Amino acid sequence: MNASNQALTQLQHRHLLGLSAYTADEITLILDTAREFREVLERPIKRVPTLRGITVCNLFFEPSTRTRLSFELAEKRLSADIVNFSTQGSSVKKGETLKDTARNIEAMKVDMVAVRHSSPGVPHFLTRCTQAQIINAGDGGHAHPTQALLDLFTLREHFPSVRGLKVSIVGDIAHSRVARSNILGLRKLGAEVMVCAPRTLLPYNVESLGVRATCRLNEALEGCDVVMALRLQLERQSASLFPSVREYHALYGIREEHLARYPALLIMHPGPVNRGVELASEVVDHERSIILTQVTNGVAVRMAVLYLLAISADRIK
Ligand code: CP
Repeated sequence: MNASNQALTQLQHRHLLGLSAYTADEITLILDTAREFREVLERPIKRVPTLRGITVCNLFFEPSTRTRLSFELAEKRLSADIVNFSTQGSSVKKGETLKDTARNIEAMKVDMVAVRHSSPGVPHFLTRCTQAQIINAGDGGHAHPTQALLDLFTLREHFPSVRGLKVSIVGDIAHSRVARSNILGLRKLGAEVMVCAPRTLLPYNVESLGVRATCRLNEALEGCDVVMALRLQLERQSASLFPSVREYHALYGIREEHLARYPALLIMHPGPVNRGVELASEVVDHERSIILTQVTNGVAVRMAVLYLLAISADRIK
């Protein structure tokens, strides 16, 4: 609830660059709105006219399966006009700068941009060189706010409340934008968060983010409601930070024996999963894995973000 104890009805932001500037009330508004869109996705005709006349560009400079398809589906379900950009096949290959790419896209009267880039800060930069509303679809190791929002939404489906929930994030915390955004979102909604990784994959002073940290997997899993496993971000590691993938799996991989030892534990993963590394293949496919539910919920959550941001910029009423 906000100060006047009234339920919030509108976001106080023009962009979604990360969750740090968003209050618990705003996050809750997005999740409540996503629940309504989730129902739309169960209908025979999964489309509403909400964003008719609004043009959204999906500007992806980095590979993506889930986020990109999910944004595109969310935009289609809301009846927006869509343009898709990927580096491959674009004039970036001919040396065009990010700023010029953005200004050219804006010249085509694009209203909103969902951007993914390997460099942290690109979404912030775009807010300074275009009038379009910017949604961060993942920027380097910095933030992936819509992933954290869909993870929170999925948790709310499985538990009465996020408050007091014990969530352990296991894996390459140091290089993970998903970990950073989830820590922010989970802490804002009152969850207890523990992070677990080899010392070399834990950020310096990670406890300052309001989490507990351990290098022992069993300590992270003991008493925990949900484990979020993360991929080793080998593309963002400049040095060899652990002896071998086989040793990593032996010490930090979640296996069937862990599911047997902790019979209420749920498994989440943002994807893409490296089977046999952070999760044993049987764990990925286990009935207590809710990884594909996360993917399903991503569409509804992104519909909610697009809708609420369009309202905050007075594009729709
Ligand atoms: N979770 C996630 O961001 O997956 P993609 O890289 O496939 O978009």
